[in-house]
Amino acid sequence: MASSTSTLSLFHLFLFIFSSSVLLTQSQAPPPITQGLSFTFYDSKCPKLESIIRANLKKAFKKDIGLAAGLLRVHFHDCFVQGCDGSVLLDGSASGPSEKDAPPNLTLRPSAFKAINDLRAAIDKKCGRVVSCADVAALAARDSVFLSGGPDYKVPLGRRDGLSFATRDATLASLPAPTSNVTVLLKALSKLNLNADDLVALSGGHTIGIGHCSSFSDRLYPSRDSTMDQSFAKNLYSTCPTSTSSNTTVLDLRSPNAFDNNYFVDLVNRQGLFTSDQDLYSDARTREIVKRFAADERLFFERFAASIVKMGQLSVLTGKQGEIRENCSVRNGRKVDGDDDEEEEGIWSLVDDEVVQSLAFE
Ligand code: HEM
Ligand SMILES: *[C@@H]1O[C@H](CO)[C@@H](O)[C@H](O)[C@H]1NC(C)=O
Ligand SMILES: *[C@@H]1O[C@H](CO)[C@@H](O)[C@H](O)[C@H]1NC(C)=O
Ligand SMILES: *[C@@H]1O[C@H](CO)[C@@H](O)[C@H](O)[C@H]1NC(C)=O
Ligand SMILES: *[C@@H]1O[C@H](CO)[C@@H](O)[C@H](O)[C@H]1NC(C)=O
Repeated sequence: MASSTSTLSLFHLFLFIFSSSVLLTQSQAPPPITQGLSFTFYDSKCPKLESIIRANLKKAFKKDIGLAAGLLRVHFHDCFVQGCDGSVLLDGSASGPSEKDAPPNLTLRPSAFKAINDLRAAIDKKCGRVVSCADVAALAARDSVFLSGGPDYKVPLGRRDGLSFATRDATLASLPAPTSNVTVLLKALSKLNLNADDLVALSGGHTIGIGHCSSFSDRLYPSRDSTMDQSFAKNLYSTCPTSTSSNTTVLDLRSPNAFDNNYFVDLVNRQGLFTSDQDLYSDARTREIVKRFAADERLFFERFAASIVKMGQLSVLTGKQGEIRENCSVRNGRKVDGDDDEEEEGIWSLVDDEVVQSLAFE
């Protein structure tokens, strides 16, 4: 009897150690910085860069706090689709404003694209055209988090802007659907060297912003997802009376515009909006991480900052790769008058072929 009890408690002790040391495997050390990026990249070229962005966004969020969510999501999409190279900002990108009805609805807020162009205009006025659109997007995402109440963190800089946008198929293949379960999400993120800790921390981005009925109607129709809280479901049925209604609702019902750990409290209460949210709590591989973040906002902030810095360096272009786009919505050299130098003309003709090729797959 005694021996089986002690075996049992040893087993529990083991489980405890296992869950606290293995489920959050990353060390506390900040993630490594990719060669070519640095925290001091613009220190001499544009010393006021970060204060220009923060001051402008602070003003913009006073008028429209939803813009913060829009900007955070733009950075996520940019990084997941062919790397953080600003390609998502290009007109014609499958997740940009030109393909509003791509299934699943990948539409990003038009106000976020405009805000990035406005920021670039303000930056260029002070520093000239030295800061990439991809860096502006990364900094705007950081300030969206911070100005909504989340952690402040340093962003490694020096990204260059890509020369081609992702095709619709590439975009669909790179972004996990909100109907995904944890198995699918872990597989998608592992291709980007992101693990279960990163998945849960980054999903915490859903502590701000909104979603359309089409993104979660799979949980309502033809029948209610049994993992969903009943009164929460009742509200969603009234927001989305049919599977095709186009209303929106908030991603974090407890504090929809504040960057905090309430998203995880929602999940523990089975009030996550998407399957991809709620399954983080249903699935044993991620449940303990959700519970820890729900109980400890500081831990969530620390992990979110580490994971988004990691995400923000996915397949970046550096050095002489790519370009510094003049207008974040279009590649250089597209203008009628054109200020192209020879080097860029050279890259141009090369890239044109690539674009033509990738378009052929659409
Ligand atoms: C893990 C996989 C993810 C999935 C499946 C996913 C899916 C979605 C979907 C479907 C929407 C709503 C679209 C709509 O119906 O209008 C959304 C919104 C949003 N997502 Fe994600 N997302 C994921 C990860 C992330 C990450 C990593 C971040 C940032 C760190 C993020 C930040 C946001 C934000 C801020 C919004 C609200 C946007 C707005 O209000 O305009 N998401 N996401
Ligand atoms: C897609 O999203 C946009 C705005 O983000 C919205 O106006 C549009 O109705 C949505 N389309 C569908 C089919 O849900
Ligand atoms: C997760 O989703 C995939 C694809 O829809 C499915 O094949 C798989 O059975 C699901 N896994 C679990 C554990 O539900
Ligand atoms: C949602 O849209 C329907 C029409 O599809 C409308 O009748 C209803 O009032 C809307 N509900 C909310 C809460 O916005
Ligand atoms: C940038 O390009 C977009 C799309 O072509 C255009 O609508 C916009 O006016 C341009 N912005 C500037 C500042 O040139």
